[in-house]
This record gives sequence, C-alpha cells and structure tokens, in this order.
Amino acid sequence: MDTKIFKTSEQEIGEAGKIIRKGGLAAFPTETVYGLGASAFSSDAAKKIYEAKGRPSDNPLIVHVCDKNQICDIAEEIPDGARAVIDKFMPGPITIILKKKQIIPDTVTGGLETVAIRFPKNETAVRLIKAAGVPIAAPSANLSGKPSPTKAKHVIKDMMGRIDAIIDGGNCEVGVESTIVDFSGEKPVILRPGGVTYNDLKEHGIDVEIDKNILQSVSANEAPKCPGMKYKHYAPEAEVTVVEGEESAVREKIKELLDGVHGKTAGVLTMCSADYDNAVILSAGSTNKEYAKNLFSALREFDELGVEIVFAEFCEKDGYALAVKNRLYKAAAQRVIHV
Ligand code: TXA
Ligand code: MG
Repeated sequence: MDTKIFKTSEQEIGEAGKIIRKGGLAAFPTETVYGLGASAFSSDAAKKIYEAKGRPSDNPLIVHVCDKNQICDIAEEIPDGARAVIDKFMPGPITIILKKKQIIPDTVTGGLETVAIRFPKNETAVRLIKAAGVPIAAPSANLSGKPSPTKAKHVIKDMMGRIDAIIDGGNCEVGVESTIVDFSGEKPVILRPGGVTYNDLKEHGIDVEIDKNILQSVSANEAPKCPGMKYKHYAPEAEVTVVEGEESAVREKIKELLDGVHGKTAGVLTMCSADYDNAVILSAGSTNKEYAKNLFSALREFDELGVEIVFAEFCEKDGYALAVKNRLYKAAAQRVIHV
C-alpha cells in the first residue's frame, strides 16, 4: 500500500478526513501520542486498525470526538463524575469509559458494552475529526507491543506501507497516553495514569480509585478491567532495568551494574546527567513531566543506536511519577531495583 505523508494544510487535513470518512486509515498527532485513526462508525475500518497494528481484536479502541456534544451521540448515560471530567479536563489528555450506544460497533470496543471516549486538545487532531465528519477510533499508532509514537518519524517507521496516510504534525507535547478513568462501574477508577494526574482530579472534587494493576503485571488467570493491561507493552529490543530511589543511590547502583556488563552495549536513561563510563547516555529530563515527554522516544533511540541493555534512572519528582512508572515498569517487564 502507498502511504501518503501529509502536513497540516487545510487541503491535506481535508484529504486525510476524506480517507477516514471513506473507511481508510490515517495516523495523526494528538497532545499525548500519535493515533492511528479510522471511522468509529465502521466495523470494517476498525478491523483494518487491528490488522495494521498486529493488535489482538479483544483490545478496544478509544473513540475521539471534536466537541462535547458528540459524547452524547455515542454514550448511553453520563454520570456526575464523568460530567465533571468533561467540564474541567476536556479537551485534554484524558479518556472516560461510559456505557456505549448501539451506533458504536462491537469491533471498536472489542465486544465490550462500554466505550472509551476522548476529546483531544491538539489542534491538528481536532481539525481532522471535524474534516472526517465522524468520531475517530484510534489506538496509538505503533506496531502492537512497541513504544507509542511521539514523533512523525516513529509512525513512519512502524506504519509505512500499512496504512493510507500519516499526518506529520510535529512532536507530541505530553509524550505518554491519556489518563483513562472508568465511569461504568460503582466507583470511578483510574485504569491508566497519564497527562491528567490523580491529584488534578482530586483538586476538582472528582473522587477516583487507582486500579491495582497499574504498577504490577496482570496474573495469567485474571481478566483486567482494561484489556490492554494484559498485553506486552512498550518493549524495545534492548533489555531495560529500572533503578529507582534517591538520586545518589541510583547513580551508585547503576555504576555497579555497568561494571558487571560484559560484551554487550549498555545505555543509561538519566535524570541527573551523571557521567557514566562505557555507556550510551540519553537524557530523560530532570522532572517526571519531562521524563514522560522523552521516554518513548528514548526507548526507540536506544534501539537505533544498537544498545542491548538499558538502565533507566527513576527518581520521584512530581505528579507525572505514576504515569512514567507505569510505562517504565512495562518496558522493563517488571525488572525494577529499589535502592
Ligand atoms: O492518549 C491516548 O489515549 C492515545 C491517543 C491516540 O488518543 N490512544 C491510546 O490508545 O493510547 P491505545 O489503544 O493504545 O490504548 C487504549 C487503552 C487500551 O489499553 C484499551 O484496553 C483501553 O484503552 N480501553 C479502550 N476501551 C476500553 C473500554 N471500553 N474499557 C476498558 N478499557 C478500554
Ligand atoms: Mg497503545
């Protein structure tokens, strides 16, 4: 398949919108990560997404809207807490799970009776949804299992030849995927931490619990609330180990670990720009917010540089800590050393 690369002119966004309206696939930027979009009203188009990504078809897609009224078209009922999220945090990096209306096909929701809904803030994303004239079902635009794309070049690497078009709208600002809050049960629960933090929600009087599977792997006999939790995620070619704790202790431990690496190329993802010997060093930034923005891109870069073993420093700094740890632990397949 010939994949068209678009920029963000009126004409190009219009063309990408038309591709989606007609049942094709177009990748687009959002403020979190790039999405791989198809019409949320088309079962066939949703099937193409699962195929292009190599994604298991029981892992549902997020439906993206471009105004708040569209939410009522696709969700059955909107509880008070969800209403508060819509009022305070949309558009923005947050997704809510509500009971779905019939108009959303089962293929989009992986057979679930609920639908995940997000109103992104990114201007290109909003213009595309308007141009398409339909809500857009979109997972992150990476091959299943790979780190989510935060730059157009990541999407090109994973999706070239597999989809109809890619809109290059620059780098994603947040860098990790949206916070997911499930409002379909008795109590609202954060299923995935992201750009809107637990404290942000709390400060606006939105009372939520945090799902226990956010920082641990799902056991084999368990059906997680968020189907995505049970699949392999963010796995670079390199073997990642997280070293977590107070800065100087983290540094000492990584020096010791590097001394034990023989015959392999090692890398360090650093928060404190420590100079390590015999390692490829990439900066994650000094705050957890910067870490979120840089993490996926750095994981891909280590692979490009041929790094085989990565030690990732992690020190808790701000409200983004949970979102970063959730992705790091998955990238590291739970290899975490606390010092
Ligand atoms: O920031 C984001 O959310 C990005 C951008 C493109 O919007 N999208 C994204 O989609 O991260 P994806 O497909 O990579 O992750 C969606 C997650 C999956 O883990 C999926 O299992 C979960 O949301 N999910 C979707 N619908 C659900 C539902 N009805 N109930 C529970 N979990 C759901
Ligand atoms: Mg994803």
